[in-house]
Amino acid sequence: MPISLLVASSDDHFREMVRENLLNIQNSKVLSEYPEVSSTLYIRVLQDLERHPEAALVVDMSYDAGVALAAMQKVKQAVPELYLIASNFQADGETVLSCLRAGASDFLTQPLKRIEFRDAMQRLESTPRKVSTAGSRLGKIYTFLGAKGGVGATTLAVNFAGVLAQRKQHVVMLDLDWTANDVALQIGAAPQYTLMEVGENLGRMDQALFEGFVTRDPLGFYLVGPPDSLEQRGYFTEPMFREFSTFLVEKYQSIVIDAGRNINDDVVLGALQASNTVFLVVTQEYPAIRNAQRYLSFLMRAGFTQDQIKIVINRYTKKPDSLHASLEQVQQTLGQPALYGIPNSPVFLASLNKARPMVQDREAAGELDRIFRSFVDKATGVKKEAVPKSA
Ligand SMILES: Nc1ncnc2c1ncn2[C@@H]1O[C@H](COP(=O)(O)OP(=O)(O)OP(=O)(O)O)[C@@H](O)[C@H]1O
Ligand SMILES: [Mg+2]
Repeated sequence: MPISLLVASSDDHFREMVRENLLNIQNSKVLSEYPEVSSTLYIRVLQDLERHPEAALVVDMSYDAGVALAAMQKVKQAVPELYLIASNFQADGETVLSCLRAGASDFLTQPLKRIEFRDAMQRLESTPRKVSTAGSRLGKIYTFLGAKGGVGATTLAVNFAGVLAQRKQHVVMLDLDWTANDVALQIGAAPQYTLMEVGENLGRMDQALFEGFVTRDPLGFYLVGPPDSLEQRGYFTEPMFREFSTFLVEKYQSIVIDAGRNINDDVVLGALQASNTVFLVVTQEYPAIRNAQRYLSFLMRAGFTQDQIKIVINRYTKKPDSLHASLEQVQQTLGQPALYGIPNSPVFLASLNKARPMVQDREAAGELDRIFRSFVDKATGVKKEAVPKSA
């Protein structure tokens, strides 16, 4: 079984040493590094384990052994089957025993020694492991990424958040498209605060403060996005997003992100990496498909797996013409099946003009509303009740 490590340490040098030691071990890699060993470590570990259930965690305790032990205990409570390796300079009986009590499976003395590290990796390799995060109560992150301008990423994200909120979920929408800032436009909101205030107050963030910064849509979801004026790119970095998302998944059930299409923006890439599902929105137009293909290969090179990325065809038509590829052509070009097709419908434009999500008025939206809700079911894994066979 290949070795995949998650490494938590506030010490750059330690993380580098782990990476270096792994170079000599076949089929091994570091999947994620966490520059902080804190009480929220378990959240980031859980997020990564959802995608990589075979991964093991290494925790460097040297900065603050007490905090590290508490963090390890919390991680083990959340994922009891996780293979956990603790590491410290002190390796006396008391230290090692406290690690074992906190749930560690192994211990590495620092400074790391090549042979000891290799032996520890051999022990890890020979231990069967596949953790289950099914019982995790962390919120899910759903991100909509447009393969081209105007394909409908914002429209789909807004309606997706709307449906989940109508289902009484606690939902937060993040607009990470700093140039467009269209979510507010589509829901008729004029937010007072933005991601910049969130960023400035991350250190003392709690639910009350957060809900003071966000705009509440009448459908029930919260929105926070970029400042409206284009001069203010503001200071909101990828590490800030990471910390923010840790807070969000602990407190809310679903986080819906409009990522726009700037795939090589650090914050957007961080959001894609933290997502449970990325919906790559395409149309059947050739330029959009070509770009989707570029995006997919970029994401695969960045370590994404196919089941993290779902293709959604917007403005779907069953009748291809000279400007539109067929469903089969789209799937063949992208090398994976499409999750869903959302039809082209003037109802979307009408709802844009009213500045309210299409799903708000079920009657006016008719068939489109029904189709959209079954897209949400499929996308979130909600099982439809089996249709009873005729009596
Ligand atoms: N399925 C659809 N049928 C008809 N019109 C649609 C559909 N989906 C979106 N639209 C319309 O297409 C336009 C662009 O949609 P939207 O702003 O959501 O795209 P986007 O991908 O977010 O664009 P941008 O690149 O500007 O962020 C809007 O006028 C929207 O109402
Ligand atoms: Mg948009």
